[in-house]
Order: sequence, then C-alpha cells, then structure tokens
Amino acid sequence: MLVLGIETSCDETAAAVVSDGPPFSRIRSNLVFSQLDEHRLYGGVVPEIAARSHLERIDSLVARAMEEAGVDFDALDAIAATTGPGLIGGVMVGMMTGKAIAALHGKAFVAVNHLEGHALTARLTDDLEFPYLLLLVSGGHCQLLAVEGIGNYRRYGGTIDDAVGEAFDKTAKLLGLGYPGGPAVERHARKGDASRFALPRPMLGRPGCDFSFSGLKTAVRHVLDKLPCPSDADKADLAAAFQASVADVMEDRAGRALERFQQETGHRGPLVVAGGVAANEALRERLAAVARQHRTELVAPPAALCTDNAAMIAWAGLERYRLGARDPLDFPARPRWPLDTLATPQAA
Ligand code: KG4
Ligand code: ZN
Repeated sequence: MLVLGIETSCDETAAAVVSDGPPFSRIRSNLVFSQLDEHRLYGGVVPEIAARSHLERIDSLVARAMEEAGVDFDALDAIAATTGPGLIGGVMVGMMTGKAIAALHGKAFVAVNHLEGHALTARLTDDLEFPYLLLLVSGGHCQLLAVEGIGNYRRYGGTIDDAVGEAFDKTAKLLGLGYPGGPAVERHARKGDASRFALPRPMLGRPGCDFSFSGLKTAVRHVLDKLPCPSDADKADLAAAFQASVADVMEDRAGRALERFQQETGHRGPLVVAGGVAANEALRERLAAVARQHRTELVAPPAALCTDNAAMIAWAGLERYRLGARDPLDFPARPRWPLDTLATPQAA
C-alpha cells in the first residue's frame, strides 16, 4: 500500500510518500519546507503569509516527494491531506491540492486530522500497539489522551490557556532569544542555574490532567521587569528556571494521567510523547523518569517526526484507508477539530 501525504496546516509545507512495509522502510520520501524565515520578522506565524507561501510551494514539493519515492501517481492507493485543525487558509491549500490529485488520477482521498497524524506517529516508527497514553505537546496543542484505536481517543486533559510550545515561544520572545523559541530556550537553559529564580508550578498537584501556562509566562515577565538589562547569564538562569517549571508540571500531569490510564485500561502504558516540544531533551528525560516510576516506558519518535511533517499525515491516511476510509471531495476544511470527536473508519 502506498499513500501520498500533504501537510499545510501551520508554517511547514510538507509532502511525503509512505508505504505499509516494515517500519524501517516505510518512509519513501519525506520533504518539509519550513517557512520560518518568512515569519521570523513578525515573531510568530502570520496566517496570510503562510497560506500564500504554501500555495507557491506545494506543487513542486509534491512532485519532488513523488520523484524521491520513485513512484508515479498511478502507483498510489490514496492521497491523504490534513483537513484541520489549523490555519484555515493553509489547510485549504493542501486539502485542495490533495483532492485535485485524487480526482485527476481516480484515487481515493482521505481527510486526515493533523492531531491524529501526531497521535499515530509512534505506530509508523515503532509499530506500537494500542492502547497507549499520548502526551501531545506542540505550539498549538497541549493535551493528554488515551489512544485506543484509529479514531478512538479519550481526552484526559489539556491546557486551559496557552499551549506549552506557545509558552516556550513567548518566553523566548520576552528574553529576546528569537523565534522559534523552544530550541533557543533549551539551549540557554543548559547553561543556566534553574534555582536562582523561583517561578510558579501552575496546576501542580491539582486533581485531573489539565495544564495552564499563561501564569508562568507572566511570572517570567515580572522577573524581567526587575532586570532592566538582563545579561546572558541572567537570561540563561531564567530560561533554566522556566524549563524546570515546565518539566515539574509535565511530570506531575503525565504521572496522574498514567495512573488513570492504568486503572481504566488495565495496561501499564506506554507513554508516548509527540509534537514539536517533544524534541526537548530535558523534558524527555523527566517523562522517561515518570514512565519508569509507573513501571512503563516512554516512546518518543525521532525529533524530525515529532515536529510537523507529511509522513505522519500519509501514515494516518494509510491506517484509515486500510480500515476502509474514503472521504468525499467536498469534505470540509476545519479550523477546529478535536481528536475525541473522530470515529473509527468503517468500510462502506
Ligand atoms: O509540532 P510543531 O512543529 O508545530 C505545531 O503543530 O505547533 O511544534 C512547534 C513548537 C514550537 O512552539 C516550538 O517552540 C516548540 O514546538 N519546540 C520546542 C523545541 N523544539 C520545538 N520546545 C521546547 N524545546 C525544544 N527543543
Ligand atoms: Zn503539529
């Protein structure tokens, strides 16, 4: 089985061809064009610029992905494209491209939820079996879900304000570390002393599995207000304090979710982490520790497959197609599309 995947929901234009062979040979091609330089000036993603940039690049990127995979459109079983959630202009570009290719070549079109792409990546890379507990942490999302099958997700909790990646990005901006913030904060945190500044641990110890990060960002701003000209050492210490706070909160929330998951499913785990923030080494270490405490393991896909890519979209499309999913060419693009509203595909 061979599926072309297209991803344009945020600021990466991506196309990939994936097969259902053994894990190491599944990804036939996987191209990502990051629009980072186009948005850097604005300190965040500008939706209109993103949509135009996707439009300019998607055709040639798809052509290159097919070329690298060494296949032509006739060899494909299906075309999968992200149809939400995300920035609607960008989603439309990728979705319409996918539908047009499917119509032209008489192939099935599969509409993929971007979050389901992240949720199933560990099956693409590690052949993971259901169920598992997923911590999805990216620039736009921060949630804990029990993954029990394709289209079968139960949400344990999520952020009540900012996503964790957003908190990293905003903190980096306050510290003047540039965009995107996550990798910059992690780099500075490595050189810093996390104990110099006392920052809050929002939601720590509270019942449930929700997160909150806006107060933490405000606390960083209050510290900076008292440091009019922060030195590199000040910035490193504050980055380290911020990251330590996020790590404490993550450990606490993931631990609670693991307890609930183990009670409800009778399975120990594993704990799977996905999304751009999963690239953070310090956070991965803490999550691995909390998994061990709960007698299970942490599964973290390689960083390049944690951040946005089209291989995960092609794979989610392939898993859905295998179960009989075929979506109509008038399938709508959705800016909001919670994972726990999906259904398991049924053959028509
Ligand atoms: O999954 P992703 O590529 O795009 C979204 O769907 O949001 O995630 C991007 C987010 C950004 O907020 C970025 O700052 C964060 O992931 N990120 C990190 C790291 N690398 C990327 N956050 C913390 N530490 C990192 N090393
Ligand atoms: Zn994402």
